[in-house]
Amino acid sequence: MKKILFSILAVLTIGVSSAQIVPKPKSESYQGGEFVITDKCALVYDAQVRDAAMYLLEYLPFKQILSSPKIMDGDIQIALNRLMDEEEYNLIVDKKNIRIIGGSYAGVFNGVQTLLQLLPPKVYSKNCKFPIAIPCCTIEDNPKFSYRGFMLDVARTWIPTDKVKRYIDLMAYLKLNKLHFHLTDDEGWRIEIKSHPELAKVGGFRGGDSPVFPRYGKFYEKWGGYYTQQELKEIVSYAEQRNIEVIPEIDMPGHSKALGAIKKDILCNYTPSGNRTNGLEIRNVWCAAKESNYALIEDIIREMSGIFTSDYIHIGGDEVNMAQWCRCPDCQRLKKEKGLENENQIEDYFIARTTEILTKYGKKPAVWNEAIEGGLLPKNTRVHGWASIKKCLASTSKGYPTIIMPGHYFYFDMKQSASEPGHNWAAIFDAKKVLSFDFTKQGFTAEHLKNVAGIEASFFSEIYIAHNPEKSDYLDYMLFPRLTALSEVAWSHTRRSWDEFYTALKNIHYARMDAMGVTYRLETPKVTYTNGAITASTTDNSTIYYTDTRTGKSARYSKPIATSTPWAFEFESRKGTGISKKTGSKEYYALQKPQVTVTSSIPCSEKTPMTNAAKYSNSIVRTTRAAKAGDWIEYRFAEPVTCREIEVMTGHIHLRRCNLLKGYIEVSYDGKTFVHTADFDVAGAIIKPTAAVKAVKITATSNSDAEDQLVIQSLKIK
Ligand code: ACM
Ligand code: ZN
Repeated sequence: MKKILFSILAVLTIGVSSAQIVPKPKSESYQGGEFVITDKCALVYDAQVRDAAMYLLEYLPFKQILSSPKIMDGDIQIALNRLMDEEEYNLIVDKKNIRIIGGSYAGVFNGVQTLLQLLPPKVYSKNCKFPIAIPCCTIEDNPKFSYRGFMLDVARTWIPTDKVKRYIDLMAYLKLNKLHFHLTDDEGWRIEIKSHPELAKVGGFRGGDSPVFPRYGKFYEKWGGYYTQQELKEIVSYAEQRNIEVIPEIDMPGHSKALGAIKKDILCNYTPSGNRTNGLEIRNVWCAAKESNYALIEDIIREMSGIFTSDYIHIGGDEVNMAQWCRCPDCQRLKKEKGLENENQIEDYFIARTTEILTKYGKKPAVWNEAIEGGLLPKNTRVHGWASIKKCLASTSKGYPTIIMPGHYFYFDMKQSASEPGHNWAAIFDAKKVLSFDFTKQGFTAEHLKNVAGIEASFFSEIYIAHNPEKSDYLDYMLFPRLTALSEVAWSHTRRSWDEFYTALKNIHYARMDAMGVTYRLETPKVTYTNGAITASTTDNSTIYYTDTRTGKSARYSKPIATSTPWAFEFESRKGTGISKKTGSKEYYALQKPQVTVTSSIPCSEKTPMTNAAKYSNSIVRTTRAAKAGDWIEYRFAEPVTCREIEVMTGHIHLRRCNLLKGYIEVSYDGKTFVHTADFDVAGAIIKPTAAVKAVKITATSNSDAEDQLVIQSLKIK
């Protein structure tokens, strides 16, 4: 009797309600009662969906597994019903069986993912033990969009195969089914092409002795990697088992600086002046007039077609610097000969030639939204609308099947709040904004919607390289829970409200991500200073910690902290594997803005004068040449400044670019003599003055990293 009681108590159970499965299913009902998965249960599958059964087995270690169309009481069945839609599935749990019936492999796999979400979160750590109770229910489900994508830029920052597979797993958990794999860009070439091995062997690495210039971070090392064709095939098949199609992108004809550094012949027929560029090549566009270029493209596409099983290959088409075609006599001759009206139509010609090659190898073209500007692109070209909602609307109204991925909602390289890392050119937004995306409010009519082929999030990786990618959790933090919200937008017919979604996150999805080891972003604690005490709070049941930045001592926050120095206290919260950003009260962020005069040995551009660096805003100074060893920048204050720290940085404010690579910082307390205070950590350093400061001086010990300029910023004085 005791034994029975124990085993009942030991049954892992989960209180499931309709708020738990993300993305939200089309319909779900819970009848009461439960099915208990035990060691005695058998997993019974249709032979065609064996891979889905094997996938489930990784999470639930059934001892009996058999391929059969028939089931008995106690069995878990995975079966096909070809009468259903491809991605449709029914998941039926009663007291006798669990049955997953799907319209195809994809539908069955979606059902498997839903089953996992009905189990305790621990199942995601892949060491769950039976018995496990599961509530009796009927779930009927089918996605809103058949294209639910995520684009990963592995060109700017190298991401090794194992890590790519991990993100494929995380996509599968959210029922995302397209991995748009951005394999080449100005900063790298990541795909092995056997007929041109130098493309990956050389172009996969930047810095050091590579002809590919280091940008955005890791300036001092030769760094990178590439995928062999064998590794790519493994990625494709790993993804296929998880109902994910890998759509490779070779970004052409622009964004090709890395390739141009290896194969100069692809570039246009003129020699750019090296005066303003330290002799570095600025051309990054394929010449459209060279027949040899189309032969190279054929070599690349032929080999890609042997690796990737997707119908589409994305061939880029974004941000082409057409000035290069304007300067090229060959491209201008081509324009005349073919009767092309403008440079956009040169791009159309380039894409048409590339499309011919794609067709020969049984593939179709996908392009970025700029590629439709010339007006000649055939209507069966798939367009990825990224630049704005307006561009997405234009593409859908012109009749192109369009993937909706405007940066303002779906670029997860954007910052999540003003003081967090990331880009901000499109917007600053968190998961709540992602979930709020509303086609009708954005001006999509029924006509537009007919051409919406799907939804996609993206992560461009310029900034990632400056965040210690081998060790940090930056990518997880930028993606989760924004990707979770994206899955809801792409899948659900009737989307949850933010409150409902946030409740599901807090109740169970955070715990699932804990089990998967995902470093998701927690809400930033709210910190206020009133009546001599700092108070901190969150609404996500996380634990808040605080640090006195003067001593470095940290403790768990449990009650308001009485202090007269609120600027010294830093807060963050933790919950499972989730983290929040570090934050503080208003006083913590307060910047001093003393009057300062900025001078430099390097001349600056008239449009961005030296006075910009005295404004304490995001205004920057651009110099007219790169810095050289011995160049200096001086900040001289009108009055001595008393402060706890000064952040001295060069380069773009949100992007490690146009910064000084090496230098040192001196402080003057008397206005005459300077004391060496810090060496540069890539783009600058934080200094902690010991008395009132009269001046700060940067001295360069190497060139700036950009081709032609250094960017000078205001000081951040706290
Ligand atoms: C893009 O962000 N240039 C597609
Ligand atoms: Zn040309």
